Amino acid sequence: MTAALRFDILTLFPGMFDSPLDSSLLRRARERGIIDVRVHDIRQFAVDRHRVTDDAPYGGGGGMVMKVEPIDRALASLDIEEGTPVILLTPQGETFNQPLARELASHRRIVMICGHYEGVDERVRLYLVNREISIGDYILTGGEPAALVVMDAVSRLVPGFLGNEDSSRDDSFMEGLLEYPQYTRPAEYRGWRVPEVLLSGNHREIIAWRRSESIRRTRERRPDLWARLAEKGEVDS
Ligand code: ADE
Repeated sequence: MTAALRFDILTLFPGMFDSPLDSSLLRRARERGIIDVRVHDIRQFAVDRHRVTDDAPYGGGGGMVMKVEPIDRALASLDIEEGTPVILLTPQGETFNQPLARELASHRRIVMICGHYEGVDERVRLYLVNREISIGDYILTGGEPAALVVMDAVSRLVPGFLGNEDSSRDDSFMEGLLEYPQYTRPAEYRGWRVPEVLLSGNHREIIAWRRSESIRRTRERRPDLWARLAEKGEVDS
């Protein structure tokens, strides 16, 4: 069976993917054939017998740079169809967010290259990838955790992933709002009570309460999201 979405990940550290892929929902999705994840060791595609994948930068300066040939050879081994996102994970990329996750989830296949060391030969950017993604403004030791973040966020949007389409809605009450507070049993613990409205059984009031909590949280915690909603006229500034 061909999975709904196939990920090809190129990395110098394939072992970093073992446990995340073998746990929880990603494991279940793989077992059920919803996603297919192939991890490729860039070192296997090195051109010399010492399997060198990095070298000193032209022009001098510290650190090492990932070589272009092993990455090119690894990509060439994959038979990548036109239109497939070929992504370099790098702090210099566009910032990953939910709309980008949604867009990627519409593809049948996604290729991701995990950068390392001080950087990647610029020719990888210029000629081999068609997209660069950062997961946020901080520097990781390599692109592997970023690839896992992207894979996780994209996978849960693939139909059938959770076996429950309803809970795969974005974790926002309304597009662009933060999640409202959630509670489960018991109704009281150490004197900490669940808000009365949630126990009331009044569905209309519950919806109104959740909405107003989402709005309050977003206004208090995320002025950036709030400003965007106000611009679109979805809330009163
Ligand atoms: N590699 C190192 N830091 C990164 C980041 N923030 N996002 C994506 N890839 C990275």
